[in-house]
Amino acid sequence: MYHLPVIQLLPPTGDSRELHGLYLNEGLQQRGSTARPFVYSNYVSSIDGRIALPSPDHSTHQVPPAIGNTRDWRLFQELAAQADVLITSARYFRQAQTGEHQDQLPVGPTEDFADLREWRLQQGLSAQPDVVVLSNSLDIPVAALQGYPNRNLYLAIGAGNDLEHARNLTHAAGIGLLQAGSGMAVEGAPLIEELGRLGYRSIYAIAGPAVLNTLLHGQVLDRLYLTQAHRLLGGMEFDTLNWGPVLTRPVTLEPVGLFLDNHAPQGASQLIASYDCRYPE
Ligand SMILES: NC(=O)c1ccc[n+]([C@@H]2O[C@H](COP(=O)([O-])OP(=O)(O)OC[C@H]3O[C@@H](n4cnc5c(N)ncnc54)[C@H](OP(=O)(O)O)[C@@H]3O)[C@@H](O)[C@H]2O)c1
Repeated sequence: MYHLPVIQLLPPTGDSRELHGLYLNEGLQQRGSTARPFVYSNYVSSIDGRIALPSPDHSTHQVPPAIGNTRDWRLFQELAAQADVLITSARYFRQAQTGEHQDQLPVGPTEDFADLREWRLQQGLSAQPDVVVLSNSLDIPVAALQGYPNRNLYLAIGAGNDLEHARNLTHAAGIGLLQAGSGMAVEGAPLIEELGRLGYRSIYAIAGPAVLNTLLHGQVLDRLYLTQAHRLLGGMEFDTLNWGPVLTRPVTLEPVGLFLDNHAPQGASQLIASYDCRYPE
């Protein structure tokens, strides 16, 4: 399935390229430094901009099966293979506790991704990327945070949050605590600066729209990977990829790669795009 090709549209060669390895060769490890880590994110979206819809019982939001697909998932894992650390949300750990999460944090443990786990070791990276969890509410089940004993995990909060509560939570879970930003919420720029100080050079945000908005406001997202499945989903309750305060100084996206994938989602096709973020002075 991964070996079926995509067609390269940008740069406009029209060549067939194997999906397998398409993003692993992006060289993301070399783009950042501890002084200025390289920060990237990735979404699969419908043409009408939905990244998540309510689950059938409305208990949570999930990536709709009409757009989620194994070929995009492979690319998601290839991006994760190049990360020193993942940024995720408290929501992920709440869903993990109830079994409603999409999957284990990448890099996935299955045979499909054995090459990626091996690749990390060959590159001299840790076996798995570390993890930073953003939360305002501090409503995170301790047991869910203990599910990754072989990685360094951190809870990130704003300095205006309840420090004692956060300390109790991180102590109980045996994880680290980061403070980034002076208010209740985590702010993007101080978060990335702190992660650089901890030695991380490539940072992959795998959370949803509020975390992306935090990174865009802080002008620290360097690259957006976006797979657009050629489907329209509608719905009145949905997530799109950026939610939060208006970006009064809009971010410009410069396309750096575009591929047509005629083999997913099942019965449709998709565009696989990447964009460099340009921020106003
Ligand atoms: N289609 C795709 O490619 C894709 C990708 C990613 C996610 N999704 C979907 O999108 C939906 C939403 O994902 P999500 O809930 O992870 O996204 P999110 O909106 O980025 O994060 C939600 C939670 O993260 C914490 N948070 C976010 N920004 C924060 C900040 N600046 N400071 C402190 N805490 C902050 C808050 O936790 P507290 O509630 O604890 O305060 C918040 O409720 C999910 O259904 C997910 O499956 C889809």
